[in-house]
Formats: sequence, C-alpha cells, structure tokens
Amino acid sequence: MKKDILVLGIETSCDETSVAVVKNGREILSNVILSQIDIHKQFGGVVPEIASRNHLDVISQVIDKALEDINLSLDDIDVIATTYGPGLVGALLVGMSYGKSLSYALNKPLVGVNHIEGHICANYLEHKELEPPFIALVVSGGHTHLILVSDYGKYKILGRTRDDAVGEAYDKVARAIGLSYPGGPKIDNLSNLGDKYAIKFPKPMLEPDSLDFSFSGLKSFVLNFINNCKMKEIDFKNEDIAAGFQNVVVDILSTKAIKACELFNINKLVLAGGVASNSGLRLKMKEECEKKSLELYFPNKILCTDNAAMIASSGYYNFIMGKRDSLNLNASPNLKLEV
Ligand code: KG4
Ligand code: ZN
Repeated sequence: MKKDILVLGIETSCDETSVAVVKNGREILSNVILSQIDIHKQFGGVVPEIASRNHLDVISQVIDKALEDINLSLDDIDVIATTYGPGLVGALLVGMSYGKSLSYALNKPLVGVNHIEGHICANYLEHKELEPPFIALVVSGGHTHLILVSDYGKYKILGRTRDDAVGEAYDKVARAIGLSYPGGPKIDNLSNLGDKYAIKFPKPMLEPDSLDFSFSGLKSFVLNFINNCKMKEIDFKNEDIAAGFQNVVVDILSTKAIKACELFNINKLVLAGGVASNSGLRLKMKEECEKKSLELYFPNKILCTDNAAMIASSGYYNFIMGKRDSLNLNASPNLKLEV
C-alpha cells in the first residue's frame, strides 16, 4: 500500500503566522493561523518590520500547536514546505529559516513554495475532485492574476494588474471613506446597503483583447468624487460608494475571467486569494458561470486568506513532482509563478 505523505507547511509571507499539517496534498489535519491584523490596524496597513518581529515571537508556539492539535510530533512529518516568495522579505525569512532549520535538524526534505501557487492549491483542499486544467483568478492584497493551470505545477499567466492589486484597491477605497484596515470585508458588507447605480463609476477594461487589469484609477475616482462633493457641499452616502465600487470591480473580474475560459476552451474556473471571499464576486461568478455552463470553484473563507494548509498542499504536489530545495534556499520577495 502507498504510504501517506504528511507535509508540514509554514507561511509567514505577510501578516499571518501559520503552520499546518496536510495529508497527501488534499486533507487538512491541522491548520493554525495567528493573524497580526489587530497590531497593524493602528498603522492603517501592514508594517513590514513589525510583521517580521511578530512572526519571530510566535513561530515556535504555532508549530507546537499545529502538532499538538493532532497528537503528532515532528518525527511523524515527511516533508517540510515553506513559503519563500513573493511577500515581505523580512517576514518570509522568518518562516523560511525556521523551515530550513527543521529540515536540517530532522533530516527531512525541504520544499520551497510560491505563495501564489499556494493560494491556487487551497482549492485542492476544499474540492477533492478538482483537477487541472482550469483557469485560476488569484485576487488578494498583493496580487491580481489570471492564470492558465494546464497541469499540476504548470502555470501560464494570462493577465495581471498593471497597478494596484484588487485587495489593495479595496483597502484604499475603504480608507478614503474612513474604514479601518483591512477594508475589503467592510466594503463588501457596506455595499449591500447602498445603490450600485447612484454614482456613475468608470469601468477600466484596458485594450479590447487584454486580460490585464487596472484598478488604481478607481481609487483616484473615489478620492476625486469625495473631494468634489465636499467642495460643492453635495451629500453622498458611503454605502453608495461601496456598492458602486464593488459592482464595477466584480464586473471587470468576472468578464475577464470568463473570457479567459472561452479563449482557452476551459470549462473550470477557480477563485483564490483573500478577495475570493467577496460576496459580490462569488454571486456574480456563480451567475455568469451558470449562463456559460462553466464549473466554478472557490475555497471557504479561512482558506481564501493566507494560511499554511495551502502551502503544505502545494509543497506536496511539488514534492511528488521531484522538487527538493537545499539549505541555500533564499527568500524571494518578487518571486514569479511561471518558470
Ligand atoms: O490573500 P490575503 O489574505 O493576503 C494577501 O496575500 O494579500 O488577502 C488579503 C486581502 C486584503 O486586501 C483584504 O481587504 C481583502 O483580501 N479581502 C477582501 C474581502 N476579504 C478580504 N476584499 C474584498 N471583499 C472581501 N470580502
Ligand atoms: Zn496571500
């Protein structure tokens, strides 16, 4: 009988310290996530140096908890998988160095994982039947990518943001209307109370055949709109800004994602990353995919945001494809997905 492979995943690329144990790339045994959001909130965003220091303070305890939760010890682990990019360099170094030390001390194989690949693999944990090929839309605070996943480990970037990531645009618009970091979920909630047509938003689609995105103009539009209203003493509702912004963002994302499926003749669409939690995005994608007979997949909310289970899943697939990293593995803040 084939032996099960247990992967210990470590994720510290931004402001979540997370460690998980995953069986055969698909089954979560434990997934401990310690968020630093309350610490960074007071600064209006993630402060890289503070993030690194906090990862350092808690990483050992998070590893212990991930193993204690399932009554396992480090000896039971087969592979150590650790995010090595993209992300904040100091933050990445903490988890990656810890992973390298464990690999050395325990004499277990080390696999460095690309964080974006991890977000995509979160779907393998949630949907046991999901197999490539599919189109993935990865939308988070740092990334907005449309990706053709032709097989495990085979990625082609079809489109990406030319300026702000979607989550970043959400957070900036939220800040403009006085909502604290991270503003994405707050705009999402507020948008349900507003009229999405009350304010006429621009809809930046770029060139007709482009699968790239641009969101920075929307943030500028909101700032100009607010300043203009204030100068002319015109009343406006934050709810309407949230609803109008969400409506146009969701429209752009769904139009381009569906176009990618059609262009490459793929019938599965996968959402990933923090913004994949967005209620408007999920609803619009469901409607559009139904119309076009496409299968839609997205992870539950916990697996949308940064977590180590997705890193362990990605580590598993890389491991069985033969990837091994040496102790020379370094943090790569701008790591690309395509090779
Ligand atoms: O994937 P993630 O946890 O971290 C990165 O890798 O960036 O994504 C965090 C981002 C933040 O910008 C947050 O505002 C956004 O995801 N986000 C949302 C929602 N939930 C989280 N944006 C819109 N609607 C949501 N419901
Ligand atoms: Zn992420």
